[in-house]
This record gives sequence, C-alpha cells and structure tokens, in this order.
Amino acid sequence: MDVRAFTGGFLEAPVDTIVVGVFEGDRGLSNVAVVVDKAMDGAISRMVKAGETTGKQGDCIVLHTLGKLTASRVVVVGLGKAEELSLERLRRVAGETGRFLRRVKTRKAVVEALGTGVKGISFESAGQALAEGFIMGLYAFHKYLTKEPDDVAIEELLVSETDSARAVEIERGCRFGRVLADAVNSTRDMVNEPANRMTPSDMADIARTLARGHRLECTVLEREQMSSLGMGALLGVAQGSSQPPKFIVLGYRGAPDSSKVMGWLGKAVTFDSGGISLKQSDGMESMKGDMSGGSAVMNAVAVLAQMALKANVTAIVPATENMPGGRAQRPGDVVKAMNGKTIEVVNTDAEGRLILADALCYAVKEKLSTLVDLATLTGACHIALGDFCSGLFGNDEPWQKKVREAGEASGECLWPMPMFNDYAEQIKSTVADMKNSGGRWGGAITAAKFLAEFAGNTPWAHIDIAGTAQTDKERGYLVKGATGVGVRTLVNLARLTAREE
Ligand code: BES
Ligand code: MN
Ligand code: ZN
Repeated sequence: MDVRAFTGGFLEAPVDTIVVGVFEGDRGLSNVAVVVDKAMDGAISRMVKAGETTGKQGDCIVLHTLGKLTASRVVVVGLGKAEELSLERLRRVAGETGRFLRRVKTRKAVVEALGTGVKGISFESAGQALAEGFIMGLYAFHKYLTKEPDDVAIEELLVSETDSARAVEIERGCRFGRVLADAVNSTRDMVNEPANRMTPSDMADIARTLARGHRLECTVLEREQMSSLGMGALLGVAQGSSQPPKFIVLGYRGAPDSSKVMGWLGKAVTFDSGGISLKQSDGMESMKGDMSGGSAVMNAVAVLAQMALKANVTAIVPATENMPGGRAQRPGDVVKAMNGKTIEVVNTDAEGRLILADALCYAVKEKLSTLVDLATLTGACHIALGDFCSGLFGNDEPWQKKVREAGEASGECLWPMPMFNDYAEQIKSTVADMKNSGGRWGGAITAAKFLAEFAGNTPWAHIDIAGTAQTDKERGYLVKGATGVGVRTLVNLARLTAREE
C-alpha cells in the first residue's frame, strides 16, 4: 500500500473515494470540502447542518456521488476542534480513516493535506503524519489464518495539492512517514509472531537480513563468545532453554565525521515463562512479546539507513528465552555480569534486567557516548502508568529530557519516574553485590536502579514499555496486539541529535 503526493485536480483524481475533513464547531468544512460540497449540490453541508456529522475526531460518514463526480464515494472525516489540532491528532484520524475506508471497500482514495495551515502545521509534517497514521492504522496480522478475512486491500492514498512546491514538501513527508510506519509494522510483525517462530536465532537471521538490505554492520555473538566476554548474567537466563541465545549488534554510521555513537539497547526475551519462578498461566501467551524492545531497536536502526540520517548508532539486542527446566538457573543462584559485579538471582522472572546488565556493560566497553534502552521490563510500570505512557528513567537529566522530546514529537508518551538512591536499598543482597529483585513496591523503579549499576557514567535513559508494547483495543493508529512502540521515538532522537551537531 502506498501513500504519496498527487498534483492533479482533486475532483479528477483516479480514485473511487474522495476524503475531505470537517472540523468540529465554527470552522466547519475545509476549503477542499467546500469545493466537493458544491460539486455534490450541497450534500455535505446539508449533512453537517442536520447534525449527521459533528466533526468529532475520527467520526467518518460516507456519501455516494451518484455520478456527480468521477469517484463513486465521498468520505467526510471529523478532525475535532481546529484549535486542538496537532500532528498526533492527525495521525490518529488518519489511522481511523484508513480502517473506515477499508470497511466501505475503498481501493484508492484521495485526501487533501488535512490540517495544513492550522496551528502552524506544515505540508511536510502533515504528509508525514497522514502516511504514518494511515499505514500503521491499517496494520493486520493475518499470517496464520488459513481463510484470509475478505477485507479489500487498500492500494493507495493520494495526498492532493496542486501547488507543485507544496506537493514536493508533502511527498518528502509522505516518504518519511511510509518508511517509519513500515518499520513500526515490521516490529509489530516480529512481536505478534508466536515464540515458536520467533526464537533468538530467528531474530539474529532478521538482523542479518536487515544488515544486508541496508548496509549495516552486523555481529552476532554465540554462547561461547558471550562466555569468554564474561556475560554471566545473560547466560544464566539462557541456560534453561534449548534455544541458543544470540547477542545481536547492528551498527549504522551515517556521520563518519563525528566520534559520537549512540547506543540503542533492546530487551529480547523471545518467551518469558518466568523460569523456575514460573508465571501463572493466565495470559502467559502475551510473553511472546517480551522481545518488543529488541525488535523496535533493530527496525529503528534500519530506518536511519533508509533515510540516510546523519547519525551514528549501535543497536545492541541480547536475545534469549527464559524457560524452566533441568538446566535452568535457580532462585538463589549467584551470577557474575561482564563488569565483574555479582548478582543474587532471587527471582528468575526478573530476567530482563539480567540480560540488559550485560548488554549495558558491552555498550560501556564499546565506549558508546549515550545510551537508551527499550524494555518490557516490569508489570509494575504497567500498573503505574497504564497502557498510554511508557516509563522514563535514567542517570542524566538533560539526556532524559532529550529522549522525552523525541517521544513527544512522535506521539509516544514518556513519563519521568524517580531514581532516588533510597530505592537502591531494596536491591541490596547479603550474599552478592546486589539482588535482581527489590520486591513488589516500586518495582519499576528498583528495576531501573538495578540497570543503573551497569550503565556506569555514560548518559543513559531507560524506557519501560511493559504497558505500551501491546494493546487489547483499537485506538487511532494502534490495533490489537503489538504496537511497535519505540521505533519512532528512537528515529526522532537520532534526527534531533543530528540536527544539533
Ligand atoms: N517481562 C516481564 C514484565 C512484563 C509484565 C512485561 C507484563 C509485559 C507485561 C518481566 O520479565 C517480569 O517478569 N518482571 C517481573 C519482575 C519481578 C519478578 C520483580 C514483574 O514485573 O512481575
Ligand atoms: Mn520475567
Ligand atoms: Zn521479561
């Protein structure tokens, strides 16, 4: 499916559906909507007057043109109040519109550059938001249905603008939006894939394919190499599984003149059963998504290459299963991380921080200049913030602020969490340097305090996506299942830092 700029006339576009916007309140029909309304002998304004469409965000109605226009249908989309319009609103509206168009069997549609001229929204950013929202909103995971749903496939969305300079801007935005949304959807595909078909080895294969396609550097460390590097925390988690762990490293160097390299770390537990501290079976299937962070990081770095962004990034993805079994690590075991620190494993279900501990040590050893990790780390974060915001932690306020800005610009909400030293008391151990769980209270924070022990002095931000990586309801451009959260935040972060240097 394609979203691209279109410079021909709106009414003559070779499509079956014309999409126009209507604001809630006084602002009413957009300029293009007025033209379409005229061609439709006032049918749209009549429906607005009758209150059949209120312009509320995401409200869609369909009218048949009965031969008055080339297109057979007009869809009127509610944009909400003009004064509340934002890029995030546009993305969400685009996602909802996409699914509505699919429901009314649209194959090709044309839309105006919705939102431009309101609240400073540029043609480029509108094009990007529309492409992003539309492509993400139409995502579906049907791979294992032997009978595909009889949805028609939408082939293209044209974003119409007759002024050619503006159309160029729209197209630039559409291109970026397409690449971003495709990366988000690839992440969703990996996360939705069941754990028997997305093992650490499968993730390593995907990394190699991404590297080949986008000219990234790719290294995959095997168990023996991890062992000689001293990654005892990661190997302890991996030892219970018959699937070999993989330590995946993907590098992109788009700013060869800069010595700075950002590190993106992603937790990739391809299935988290809890290990010997076994999880309850209710809902355990969602733990196939415990590699969301790793998948997001891998797909985000591929975007940098596709857009030739001027940034240097090394993505680090420790991938393993967490399984019980005769070889599995036991509660009470002591393991040693790559930096020499010892850890008492009091709960084998607190495995994410163990594998990230070694990944952080690796990043520090590589002398990466700044770090961000994405991890489905704690149920406690889900409880604290729900499924709208991810938790943001770290050891460096300015760096965390930058990460938060990057999230905000993408519509991925990050909320700062406290890192007071008193929380570290909870992870003190009497038999080792620390223990891997601080208990229930403040669970998201004590997990972050644990990670901080391995980030050293490198500016580091930790994003807990346990609540945001998967969703059970449709909302805007999100559909049930994996959300692909983090990809757009990371790409924005690379863009922001590239701009500053
Ligand atoms: N992968 C889970 C966290 C999680 C829970 C992600 C729910 C998504 C949804 C993590 O490995 C885990 O099991 N954390 C434990 C930590 C506890 C044992 C200290 C938790 O949150 O219960
Ligand atoms: Mn766990
Ligand atoms: Zn986990």
